[in-house]
Amino acid sequence: MKSARAVAHTNIALVKYWGKRDASPADLNLPAVGSLSLTLDHLRSVTTVGPGEQDSFHLNQEPASGEVAAKVMRHLDRMWQAAGHAGARPTCAVTSHNHLPTAAGLASSASGFAALTLAAAAAFEYEPGRPALSALARRGSGSAARSLWGGFVRLDRGVQPDGSDCRAYPLQPQSHWDVRLLIVHTERGPKSLGSTAGMQRSRDTSPYYGPWVDTSEADLAAAEAALAARDLPVLGDILEHSCFKMHACMMASRPPIVYWRGATLDVIHAVWRLRGDGLQGFVTSDAGPHVKVLCLTAHADDLALRLRDVPGVHAVDIVGPGPDPSVEVLA
Ligand code: DP6
Repeated sequence: MKSARAVAHTNIALVKYWGKRDASPADLNLPAVGSLSLTLDHLRSVTTVGPGEQDSFHLNQEPASGEVAAKVMRHLDRMWQAAGHAGARPTCAVTSHNHLPTAAGLASSASGFAALTLAAAAAFEYEPGRPALSALARRGSGSAARSLWGGFVRLDRGVQPDGSDCRAYPLQPQSHWDVRLLIVHTERGPKSLGSTAGMQRSRDTSPYYGPWVDTSEADLAAAEAALAARDLPVLGDILEHSCFKMHACMMASRPPIVYWRGATLDVIHAVWRLRGDGLQGFVTSDAGPHVKVLCLTAHADDLALRLRDVPGVHAVDIVGPGPDPSVEVLA
């Protein structure tokens, strides 16, 4: 095997993924709904895979163990198997750095598993093309399938039982639209429930889960058209609707899944108030208390300035559409 390094940028879903396809093997990690995302500039994982005397995983310079490391090694096993090599996988040294703002509370699994997939494929000299690599990244983490491209990306739900058609593809390049995403960091709550466990609970217990799944396809189609037309009010309406439907489905789970804090709602209301003043921002939020606001670049600084004043807000980062991932073979 070789040593290879990959850089992949994280992404934020504008039309959300929440839930796994019924009765699918957990290892395939098949989503119940498609999703549409924006890959982000600056926020990235840099991951190196090379031969090692034993399997090891260092995350941000610290040795990682337990389930975190086990998940990485399971993914390497998958990649080795997919590459079709005979014999056991060689032992690997993996290092990963997440370049995400301090105390971001942003999920690194999207960029992390995308970078791991690309670095492992290059290290194992496996070149099936990005669509197939996206399907493999999905098995590490659903959102990672979308970080195989820059700009605006769609991940289809797919219908094949083996998940071969459940992979992402680019909709619009990084240069398509001059928009910004504000990441509004609110107070940190107690450690929240991970996405995988949360999705399972929603599927098993939320009365809103069925309607959530049934209405997602229409959101995707409408969002794709609004994105092509660069129509922010229309896309903004859809992304807020998708976000609130997902959180309603979470909240109606038993026990309830509530990722929001008081400051989360204060920021949401502030964004809506500011919209009335002509600053067009649209909110979304994921499995955590932070709020992300999609807006035109011309409004980003002003919006960030106002949102920094909302009590409970620690910081506001402004990021733009991000690039494709990159990979280089080191030796
Ligand atoms: C709320 O991709 O982290 O961010 O596939 O179980 O690893 P797993 O889940 P993950 O879930 C992301 C959920 C979300 C919405 C989204 O990114 O679409």
